[in-house]
Amino acid sequence: MRRLLPEPAAGVDPYEVYGDRPGLRLGMVMSVDGSVTDAEGWTDGLGGDADFRVFRTLRALADAILVGAGTVRTGRLGPARLRPDLRARRGGPPAPIVVVSRSADLDWTLPLFTEAETPTIVVTCQNGRKNVPAHIQVVAEGEDDIDLPAAIDTLRGGLGREHLLCEGGPTLAAALIRASLVDELCLNLAPTLLGGAHHTRLLDGLDTEVPLDPTALYIDEGVLFVRYRLRV
Ligand SMILES: NC(=O)c1ccc[n+]([C@@H]2O[C@H](COP(=O)([O-])OP(=O)(O)OC[C@H]3O[C@@H](n4cnc5c(N)ncnc54)[C@H](OP(=O)(O)O)[C@@H]3O)[C@@H](O)[C@H]2O)c1
Repeated sequence: MRRLLPEPAAGVDPYEVYGDRPGLRLGMVMSVDGSVTDAEGWTDGLGGDADFRVFRTLRALADAILVGAGTVRTGRLGPARLRPDLRARRGGPPAPIVVVSRSADLDWTLPLFTEAETPTIVVTCQNGRKNVPAHIQVVAEGEDDIDLPAAIDTLRGGLGREHLLCEGGPTLAAALIRASLVDELCLNLAPTLLGGAHHTRLLDGLDTEVPLDPTALYIDEGVLFVRYRLRV
């Protein structure tokens, strides 16, 4: 990976350059025309190996990995795993995946819930809590809807998960930005134009303007890795 900004440098190590862990980092990949899904409605076909290297690195640096229920319902999201090199650098098991779901209407037989080395956690509201099997750890904040700031506080204060990564999808990402909970956007720009009205766009649900400060730019195998600090 080559750093283009702030100071150009060759052969930078993703684990080091992304090592300044903010409170909540949003990490997503998209095509140059803004699609966050590939032709199959998933993300694997977007950024290739270079994107996966950064994806795995951001996971290894996080204390918990937030994902929206819509992403889980694709059935494509497996349990958190760590490759031996990243496990050694992290110095412990993978961070848990934290599924954010108002309804908690989820398929509890998915490997995400049955095979995770670090058990998957569910964030929901009091209404959704009854739908979560007893053996799964739950954070329930808010009555009919999730109180996102309170849920994030509980993940940090109650569960000791200080440095959070959100991997999307767009609905959850927009909700976290709207609630001023995101510190950094790490956007991986895959060198492709996908076109087509059927693709999901980066932040479809965002209804407010958020100024961004670019802080770094890297390139690896044609994928541009842009980092922005959110000015909120
Ligand atoms: N390119 C990328 O980096 C990337 C990353 C992740 C996902 N994706 C793609 O994005 C698509 C899924 O995105 P999506 O926007 O449809 O779904 P999503 O953001 O993954 O999940 C949306 C769901 O999360 C829960 N949720 C979100 N915000 C909430 C809030 N403020 N309060 C309470 N619950 C909240 C709700 O769950 P309930 O319905 O259970 O109440 C909502 O229906 C998939 O196609 C996936 O492949 C792309």
